[in-house]
Amino acid sequence: MKFFIDTANVEEIRKAKELKVLDGVTTNPTLISKEKRPFMEVVREILSEITDKPVSLEVASTDVKGMIREGERLAELGSNVVIKIPITEEGLKAVVHFEKKGIKTNVTLVFSPAQALLAMKAGASYISPFVGRLDDISYTGMDLIKQIKKIKDNYQFCSEIIVASVRNPIHVTESAIAGADVATIPYTVIAQLVKHPLTGIGLERFLKDWESVPEKPF
Ligand code: E4P
Repeated sequence: MKFFIDTANVEEIRKAKELKVLDGVTTNPTLISKEKRPFMEVVREILSEITDKPVSLEVASTDVKGMIREGERLAELGSNVVIKIPITEEGLKAVVHFEKKGIKTNVTLVFSPAQALLAMKAGASYISPFVGRLDDISYTGMDLIKQIKKIKDNYQFCSEIIVASVRNPIHVTESAIAGADVATIPYTVIAQLVKHPLTGIGLERFLKDWESVPEKPF
């Protein structure tokens, strides 16, 4: 399973890159707004850091003409730019347009298998079902991933499933067990993944015992 980082913060992107597990970046208007800097400045910095892996940038228009205008402008910023488009009727039209032009798309705000099926049929490169937000309203978000994975496999759709709205390490491991192609993960969760209390306790004990080993070679 690929690991994308879900952030517009360049420092977090750099830290995730150092771990050597980073396969791409996803942003959204909320994440960009948290940076409190001009949009193009943030985006250009992200694209100078990530040159050879997909970076999803979201359109802000809700009509197909606006989505196409914005998406084409964003696509010019780098060959690794993926245009993130909400799942609406207008959004689906934009996905078909970009697919014909060979520009990659990430269909976002997916909350049902039917929405995912439509996006896959339209030729989305990626689809982003949001698990955390479903959990928040007492649905089991991971059930949606399993349903979409089944539909994808039934008809051999090429769209990659990005598990989005990831809130904890269990979301990540369950995504991998379900066979998702990608999980897009906030930096805090990436950092949590590496930790286990028994690892910390075990390491402390080894270091203490190492002190009493005679004639250490290093
Ligand atoms: C991913 O594409 C979305 O932008 C993101 O995962 C949403 O996460 P949230 O529900 O924590 O805002």
